[in-house]
Amino acid sequence: MKKNELILILDFGGQYNQLIARRVRECNVYSEVVPYNISLEKIKEKNPKGIIFTGGPASVYGEEAPKCDERIFDLEIPILGICYGMQLMTHTLKGKVARADKREYGVIPVKINNESKLFKDFESTNNFLMSHTDYVEVLPEGFKNIGSTESCPNAAIENEEKMRYGIQFHPEVNNSVNGIKVIHNFLFNICKCAGDWVISSFVEDSIKALKEKIGDKKALCALSGGVDSSVAAILLSKAIGKNLTCIFVDHGLLRKNEGDEVEQIFSKQFDINLIRVNSKDRFLSKLAGVSDPEKKRKIIGEEFIRVFEEEAHKIGKVDYLVQGTIYPDVIESGLGKSSVIKSHHNVGGLPECVDFEEIVEPLRDLFKDEVRKTGLELGIPENLVFRQPFPGPGLAIRIIGDITDDKLEILKEADSIFREEIANAGLHKNINQYFAVLTNLKSVGVMGDERTYDYTVALRAVETVDFMTGVWSKIPYEVLEKVSSRIVNEVNHVNRVVYDITSKPPATIEWE
Ligand code: XMP
Repeated sequence: MKKNELILILDFGGQYNQLIARRVRECNVYSEVVPYNISLEKIKEKNPKGIIFTGGPASVYGEEAPKCDERIFDLEIPILGICYGMQLMTHTLKGKVARADKREYGVIPVKINNESKLFKDFESTNNFLMSHTDYVEVLPEGFKNIGSTESCPNAAIENEEKMRYGIQFHPEVNNSVNGIKVIHNFLFNICKCAGDWVISSFVEDSIKALKEKIGDKKALCALSGGVDSSVAAILLSKAIGKNLTCIFVDHGLLRKNEGDEVEQIFSKQFDINLIRVNSKDRFLSKLAGVSDPEKKRKIIGEEFIRVFEEEAHKIGKVDYLVQGTIYPDVIESGLGKSSVIKSHHNVGGLPECVDFEEIVEPLRDLFKDEVRKTGLELGIPENLVFRQPFPGPGLAIRIIGDITDDKLEILKEADSIFREEIANAGLHKNINQYFAVLTNLKSVGVMGDERTYDYTVALRAVETVDFMTGVWSKIPYEVLEKVSSRIVNEVNHVNRVVYDITSKPPATIEWE
């Protein structure tokens, strides 16, 4: 794929490595995160316009301190060292790094010299996030001070002639006011980037590159209806048209109308070769009588592969298998931990049982928000592009206890009402995940003059950034009231609705 200009980010193990890459891309410059020990040859091959060293937890004096190839400093490429990156640059270039008595942490006023190219158009004092114990005590030869805080004499340094810059603070985090401007100045005033990395050109370039690579060979894609696999599939179809076949295993455990929506988008709107395998009965019979959540997951995962395999065999040998892997899944940590390759349970194991030559991952350079932008660029409807996460095992883990067709129908209706009312109240963009759960609990109620003995539906809604932790959403009472009254009135066999007011931890987002 054609990439005009590149900023290389050498990862020294800082927690913000991906954030730096994203900030650079927000400035329309393509960036890649690479391990700190990348070889000089590789760097030369990649020919970056600039290099950024990330922060990291180590001290340059530590025995295992990560160090880059020193010859990098001989290259005529601008370098910006952030935090540990700045200290390493100082240490390598024969300045001195010292240890402070106590850690400096927090958003702290930094006095800067705004005549530096790095701080062009800045006020003389700015609030940036500092988080360090070691600091630069003596500057390397040729460097001058361009920033300080009360307790850190050298919060920013430069050697303008050699295009070497160091900052002790973190410009990449939101708490650093105008932090992005520091990155912007580095990219445009110092590295002289053009800033022409935009999603529309990514889409155009990828389609061209995929066309060249695949030619008139055949590709196969497993569609789940999720964002990543959908965007990957549509990108591929723009490149190779009917030589792409998508298999959509509909296990019947999707939300109300979801299977039809997937079919509508892929085969009608985009005219893709879509094989929808309606296998609800097959999944439900395998799941009959099973109430253990992990058993449910295992059965669904295995059956999914079986169905996919059977369909793929009907097609015969394909040249490429398309996967929706995205950048956060492939970034290798600078500290040498093995790369995390996502094994989405839906497609886990597929490569071993399908006859194909090579995997193609058209989104492996993109962050999630860029995948979404790509989706919009390709004309995929917003409700799919901004779809909330939905677990592979689907509604099976939202029906507590064993699963039957009747229970599935009850849950689909209740869940659809909840989602509709959240959208009507305009809350869908603030709540990151929300759904209904069919508890296995029956209780007594009264409907008209009749006693009822029916199910309890629980509503779950969480606000979260990473889905690892989260808080329950404070949905206004009026909205909850409307949802509750609609569910008990419109859905047969539900006579009680409760709202889950537990955060994660200690609860998980899903009930199973
Ligand atoms: P928990 O329930 O662990 O969920 O707080 C965190 C996130 O993961 C999703 N989730 C799953 N996704 N297969 C999936 O593909 C699963 O088995 C699964 N279980 C939970 C959940 O929806 C939430 O977004």
